Amino acid sequence: KGIDLDISPVTGTIGAVVNGVQLSGDLPAATVQAIEAALTRHKVLFFRDQQHLTDSEHEAFAALLGDPVAHPTVPVAEGSRYLLELDSREGYAASSWHTDVTFVDAYPKASILRAITIPEAGGDTQWANGETAYDGLPEVLRQLVNNLWATHTNLYDYAAILQSAPDGDSARERIAQHRDVFASTVYETEHPVVRVHPVSGQRSLLLGHFVKQFVGLNAADSARLFQTLQDHITKPENVVRWRWREGDVAIWDNQATQHRATADFGLQRRTLRRATIAGEVPVGIDG
Ligand code: SIN
Repeated sequence: KGIDLDISPVTGTIGAVVNGVQLSGDLPAATVQAIEAALTRHKVLFFRDQQHLTDSEHEAFAALLGDPVAHPTVPVAEGSRYLLELDSREGYAASSWHTDVTFVDAYPKASILRAITIPEAGGDTQWANGETAYDGLPEVLRQLVNNLWATHTNLYDYAAILQSAPDGDSARERIAQHRDVFASTVYETEHPVVRVHPVSGQRSLLLGHFVKQFVGLNAADSARLFQTLQDHITKPENVVRWRWREGDVAIWDNQATQHRATADFGLQRRTLRRATIAGEVPVGIDG
């Protein structure tokens, strides 16, 4: 029998806080199913006060949602089996809008991010809802994107990220080092720009900073169209912004969202660890 979670939506379109659940690898199947259903509906779920989670409990909970997968190029966080560490000392790679790991064919269906060290102020994360973004497009743009495909690669443009780095050569140097690890094996794939959600059947815009170019357009036209579509996706009506506390966990539906960290905390330390769950090759509207 299904159970009802205690859920408080954060905005009218994306994001909800789930109260009264202590995440662990021992959650009953009915609770896991309720979390999955809430994720499909709200796109990002926030759980406060999960300080009890160790790396291995984080991984054990992730395994209840599917098959956890390590990042294809970045070595796993020390002491973990497949967690990715996002540490501000390694740079600001996550501070432009993206969907996780879209440069591979079957990219992750969900990510589970746990806040370990959070600056006194700043370092919020924002998520955007690709479904409400698609639904809100003018009809002519919807027609245009319905049959469009994009090439995604991990060899992407770091210029914007370098711009957002704090002053000082060492920060820039660390970011350049991170880029070398991130693109140590180059991946490239094509995805439909409109993805049909495998559970709900809803259409969403699949873009983000790993997009290199639209298939059939030149680089200049691609860049302009990309910016137009990204502006639609990331407008405030489609976005939730989360002010982290240590011990928070966020889970997002990586099949229908983008996210970005905010690089506004200078040299303060910010550390989070992320598990990702294996996903399917995206299906466009023509199947
Ligand atoms: C991520 O891109 O997965 C992490 C976002 C963040 O650090 O806020």
